[in-house]
Amino acid sequence: VTETRKALDLYNITFLPQGEKIAVAGKQTLKDAILETGIAFDFPCGGTGTCGKCRVRIIDKPLPPTPQEKKLLGKKEISQGVRLACATEIRADLTVQLEPPKRNTHRILHTSAQTGFHLEPLLAKKYVEVPTPSLADPKAYWNRLKDALGKKDRNFINLKVSLPILRDLPDLMRLAEYKLTAITKGEEIIGIEKFDTTCTLLGAAFDIGTTTVVGYLMDLYRGKELAVASSLNPQVNFGADVISRIAAAGKSAKDLKSLQRAIVNHVDLLVGELVKKAGVKREDVYALTVAGNTCMHHLFLGLDPKHLGVAPYVPVTNDLVISEARDFNININPAGRVFAFPNIAGYVGGDTVAVVLATGMDKSRAIKLALDIGTNGEIVLGNKERLIACSAAAGPAFEGAHISSGMRGAEGAIDSVSFGENLVYTVIGETKPQGLCGSGLLDVAAGLIELGIINKRGKLLSPEEVSNPQAAPFLGNIVKLAGTNAFLLAPETITAHGRPVMVTQADIASLQLAKSAIATAVQALIETYGIEIDDIREVLIAGAFGNYMAPHSACVVGLIPRELEQRIKMVGNAAGTGAKAALLSRRELERTKYISSRVEYVELASYEGFSNMFIQALRFHG
Ligand code: FES
Repeated sequence: VTETRKALDLYNITFLPQGEKIAVAGKQTLKDAILETGIAFDFPCGGTGTCGKCRVRIIDKPLPPTPQEKKLLGKKEISQGVRLACATEIRADLTVQLEPPKRNTHRILHTSAQTGFHLEPLLAKKYVEVPTPSLADPKAYWNRLKDALGKKDRNFINLKVSLPILRDLPDLMRLAEYKLTAITKGEEIIGIEKFDTTCTLLGAAFDIGTTTVVGYLMDLYRGKELAVASSLNPQVNFGADVISRIAAAGKSAKDLKSLQRAIVNHVDLLVGELVKKAGVKREDVYALTVAGNTCMHHLFLGLDPKHLGVAPYVPVTNDLVISEARDFNININPAGRVFAFPNIAGYVGGDTVAVVLATGMDKSRAIKLALDIGTNGEIVLGNKERLIACSAAAGPAFEGAHISSGMRGAEGAIDSVSFGENLVYTVIGETKPQGLCGSGLLDVAAGLIELGIINKRGKLLSPEEVSNPQAAPFLGNIVKLAGTNAFLLAPETITAHGRPVMVTQADIASLQLAKSAIATAVQALIETYGIEIDDIREVLIAGAFGNYMAPHSACVVGLIPRELEQRIKMVGNAAGTGAKAALLSRRELERTKYISSRVEYVELASYEGFSNMFIQALRFHG
């Protein structure tokens, strides 16, 4: 058998600690093999071999390191068998130690600002006792049911029904002894159940982000949240940002299917977790709302996102898409429906619609600025008179990718840093530090700018170049690294992995690009709207990174205009709140269509003077 396998160029790979075994064809990479198994593993640069973060340890006989590995890994790591999964070609049977992202150790934002609205679920239930047919009353089964429902509620006089329901109707009515519960969506019957099931009507709202997925189980009658479940988006296996997901989906129809399957199966898994937590059944769940950026929306629905990747970045649809849950193989009530939020443009999706819905910007007299900062920052400005939005390609710096010691906001990440008399930082999970997440990076940069250790152009100065006496306690943390300066936060002796956690000159440059993208976008929206900064009454910060960042640091770095520091308000996971609101109220769902059509999209790529504005915004003003 071994001979045959070798002739076929097949190798056995065993992944630890899962113990997962897989046979793969030679010349594939370890990344391909990991993806094939479905094990959740992070490939922050999408497997382009540039981030150095997809470290694995080959237990048996390490292969010679590639030039990329020599560049991105330390000598000690290489001698210990550490390799990059995306750069390692399989040429032998291997046992590979993985350290996958631990589920639930990632800090995921669940909380959200509440919004007042009229409770009117997307679906309704009506119990009815239908007269039994007889020779004297041989009325057709459907007409018999429709008449009985019409007598109970005038809204049901013109009910529509589908052929599959009609097919099952006579047997169902007889079995139920003519005691039935009709499930309706507006004027359409979408399901009929035996006996009285009106006591439960549940739904789940999902915020599908590029990095994380959050689901809320809701009681549609009472508007009450019953459970929350969240995790990393399993598509992180295919790359950290939307561009790498678009590229991964564009390889073939099979790859698109794999990306769709990954997220749909995951939503199904989270539904299971939600009902378990709440002690209810999957069949009690009748509706799902899904809000995500346009790429996540397309991948969830199985729509090819390839046109989002090239100018003029056109989505397949911006409309609200309503489908049957069974079309996705999501195991909820057989009558269940999935409502995918409408989008605004190729890079401003349903999650932004949800943010506007949740914050009520479309009904506000005061002009507000909403920012949801992730790999792409979605920014909306305006009030009920006019709303404009754009997307800023901030890159993944705020999520810890492409930063030398960067990591997501998970256990071991330094998430806040202050420079008082000493350097003080906090670590998520209160463990040994492993890296730095976006909010920590922002604090370090802001602190170093205020101390004059980073100058206006973004240069990390050498100790002898720093003139501010208050910087003295921190000058010893400035170290030399490959000819440039770096700021040491945690030496290798106190970190979890034995490597130092530091901020390098290149990290500051990445941060400058990211902050400039957001700051330029904000400036372009203000100019387009024709207002002054002071006209903005509130800055609403949505999403995970923004809610953990310190507003003062954001203003010092220049992410948000300094003048607005006192007007910053954290609104939690506003996209999740919007998804919940639409689930609980037909009017709110209707509002999503209105918002999607009302918000004007501003394309920054063709914005006049954009390059100059961007270069100006790279500077720090302290
Ligand atoms: S180096 Fe492998 S995913 Fe980035």
